[in-house]
Amino acid sequence: MNKIIAIANQKGGVGKTTTSINLADALGFLEKKVLLIDLDPQANATSGVGLVPFDIKYSSLGFFDHTFKAENGIVKLESAHFDFTPSNIRLASIEINKSKTIDLFMLKRALSNVIKSYEYILIDCPPSFGLLALNALTACHSVIIPVPCEFFALEGLSKLLTTIKSIKKSSNPYIDIEGLLITMFDSRTNLSSQLQIELTKHFKSMVFNTTIRQNVKLREAPSYGLSIIKYSPYSVGAENYLNLGAELISKNKIVTTNPENGNDLSKILTHNTENVDHLIKRHTTTSTNKKEEDYNHLIGLKRDEVNKVLGFSYNDIHSNTWMYRISTSFSLMKKNYLYLYFENEIIADYKLTTFKINKVQ
Ligand SMILES: Nc1ncnc2c1ncn2[C@@H]1O[C@H](COP(=O)(O)OP(=O)(O)O)[C@@H](O)[C@H]1O
Ligand SMILES: [Mg+2]
Repeated sequence: MNKIIAIANQKGGVGKTTTSINLADALGFLEKKVLLIDLDPQANATSGVGLVPFDIKYSSLGFFDHTFKAENGIVKLESAHFDFTPSNIRLASIEINKSKTIDLFMLKRALSNVIKSYEYILIDCPPSFGLLALNALTACHSVIIPVPCEFFALEGLSKLLTTIKSIKKSSNPYIDIEGLLITMFDSRTNLSSQLQIELTKHFKSMVFNTTIRQNVKLREAPSYGLSIIKYSPYSVGAENYLNLGAELISKNKIVTTNPENGNDLSKILTHNTENVDHLIKRHTTTSTNKKEEDYNHLIGLKRDEVNKVLGFSYNDIHSNTWMYRISTSFSLMKKNYLYLYFENEIIADYKLTTFKINKVQ
């Protein structure tokens, strides 16, 4: 099976590049023929495998200006078990495509000649939904979405899934979700365990069984230009990424032998796309019933009366919107912030919210 997988999330720092390099190497280690493409102008994957982006002559830019040739655009790495197409900052010119010569299918077309040589082609996407990432989503068969264990982890997931849905409707009807991958998991924190429980509860088998733990070796490896398996083969990071490789391979075996066994998200994307948005919305806003139960008694209070009840707010005291963090031991999926709206110096309304703080007001 020849499969193109985009590692995508429009947020930066979630583990896309770390996953790209180390999953590519794990798959190679497990004797799969793998190509990793660095599609991020920041070129972190390129420096992470020990190349110097500034010195690169042939890069993934070649996919977009018709100059790509396997013999110079693909580097055979000695430091890892995969082939590699590097990137550098010149790739950023694609995002400011003033000439309008770049369409969504350029990467797909360019890869059509390459795909037969590889069992897996992984694409390390940039942290945005510009032309580069959209080309990757159009060219790929499936997407791996790294989800880091942090408070705002789910913010943006809805937008990413909506983007995948619209790509499915327009430029890539067969796009599928390979899986949500929990990264930077820290078993000592409640937040990590809660994120894992909640994600698995709602996205079920779409979430990889393998989670990637926080591991300082994963941070160190790129500065030596090595994958984790080469840099520290007995580390937790190496073990996690080898497990992920094995899980990916076995998942794809099941899908090939039995087409009925697709994962849940592919079903949602195919048949029931509205459910995903609905699910996420449900967890990013609070129900009206809860609102009435909890804070109705604040309506009509003056500023100093609110201070007495809730203490000082985060906002300027003269602002007509005050914000409180209402629980210190926060739960990932529950209300955490209370917004109070003043009119004529008394509270006229309020709102409870979790993630969409910047959208309130
Ligand atoms: N599991 C992990 N444990 C510790 N550090 C990690 C882990 N995964 C990623 N990192 C570090 O977090 C930072 C962001 O990761 P990166 O893979 O570059 O994210 P992205 O490509 O999504 O921007 C990097 O410094 C990386 O070394
Ligand atoms: Mg990156």
